[in-house]
Parts: sequence; structure tokens; C-alpha cells
Amino acid sequence: MLVVAQISDLHFRGDVDHRERIVAVLDYLRDRCGGSANIDALLVTGDLTDEGTIDQYREAAATLATDIPTLTLLGNHDDRTAYRAVDQPDAVDTSAPVDSALLLDGLLLLALDSSIPGRNDGAISDQTLSWAEKQISEAGDVPVLIAFHHPPNRVGMPFMDSIAQLDPSHLEAFVRRHPQIIGLVCGHIHSPSVGMFAGVPVVTAPGVSSTLNLPFEGDDIVNDSQPAGLAFHLIEVDRLTTHFRSVR
Ligand SMILES: [Fe+2]
Ligand SMILES: [Fe+2]
Repeated sequence: MLVVAQISDLHFRGDVDHRERIVAVLDYLRDRCGGSANIDALLVTGDLTDEGTIDQYREAAATLATDIPTLTLLGNHDDRTAYRAVDQPDAVDTSAPVDSALLLDGLLLLALDSSIPGRNDGAISDQTLSWAEKQISEAGDVPVLIAFHHPPNRVGMPFMDSIAQLDPSHLEAFVRRHPQIIGLVCGHIHSPSVGMFAGVPVVTAPGVSSTLNLPFEGDDIVNDSQPAGLAFHLIEVDRLTTHFRSVR
């Protein structure tokens, strides 16, 4: 069995109290879960920073140091050029989508860029889908778990649904063409949830920085009663099971 941990929506912003929530989740992964001894990979699914500044990416890089193999993708609060200035200083095209892959023994993990520079809603470009197609064909016959920031399905949160993926029809066709895709994992909505899209489960991770209210939980955007949280995706052959944990 493979274990893929997911943390999302860290929103690094140079705030000590805020950073404590992030550190608590990382400590949980390292101290309670044994780090890379038990966790095969870590997905950081976007909104790494609050405002996409170089200082915030420096703060993220300094805080997120871990021995777990990590894939990081970007969300609507991120900035490709600033991210690359800190994390990929040798990148030639600093404005291209930030896509990455990790082939484990029995699982291909893809981290795709669903951000649109300057916008809060999202889309997975045909350029990114072509790149993902190549990764899947080169990996051979292994299950595939795909991560990106913006869920492609409606989630019952009116504001977040208004800044979802613009037109996921190309993504839907892509998923339906590849039966080895066992699930999609996202962030963005700061709420753990499970849905379906193109015949596969869509799981969103809790928000590390905050939880957002459902329409019947309150009039405020943020639900202050909820602690930081994370997701564990367990993959056995081609079966995906996701567990959630809160970290106080
Ligand atoms: Fe976020
Ligand atoms: Fe977001």
C-alpha cells in the first residue's frame, strides 16, 4: 500500500500565528506519522502563498523542508514567476504552467497547474493536458492519481463555485480516455469533501490556513471553529481510500 499525504491552501503570509497552523501539520507528518519512513509522497495543492510574493515563497521554502518526496502545484493566490524565482531558479520560461510528476513503485502522481495568471477561477490548459498525456504513456501500465488546485465539480459553496474551473470539458474527456486514473485530488475550497467527475472520485483536502463555511454554517466566509487538517490517500493496487485528520 502506498500513502500519499496532502496539505493544501497554506497561504504563507509572514504571520506567526498563521504559520503555527502550518508547522503543526508538518510536525504531525514528521513526528506522529514517521515522515518518509511511512509516507511515500506529499502533495501541496496550491495557494502556497497568500499574495504570491517572493518573500512569501521564501517563507514557504524555509518552513516546508521535509524528507518526504514532495510535489507542489500552484493556485489562484500564487504567482508562477515568483514561485520559480525561489523554487526553480534555473527555469527558462518562468510564466509556463508549473506541472510535475513523480513515479512511485506502482503509482504515477501528477501535479497539474490549474491557475490562470491574474484570475481567481481556473482552467487546465491543453498544454498541461498534453504534458500529462505524455507522462501517463511513458509510465506504462500503472494507476494514476492527479492533483490540481481548482475542483472541476460543483461543491455546494456558492462563492467557491463562482471561482471554480471555467470549462472542464477537455479535462473530462482526458480523464475518460485514461481508465488508469483512479482519482483527482484538489484544494481551493478549504473544506474536506468528496465528489465525482468523469466517473472518478474528486477529493478536496482541508485548508491548512482556514476552513470556509458551508452556506448553513454561518454568514462569515471563514469558519473560525475549525483546526488545520490534512488528507491521507491510501492506494492499494488501483483502489483509492482517503482519510482526513485535524491537527490542533
Ligand atoms: Fe486557498
Ligand atoms: Fe484557491
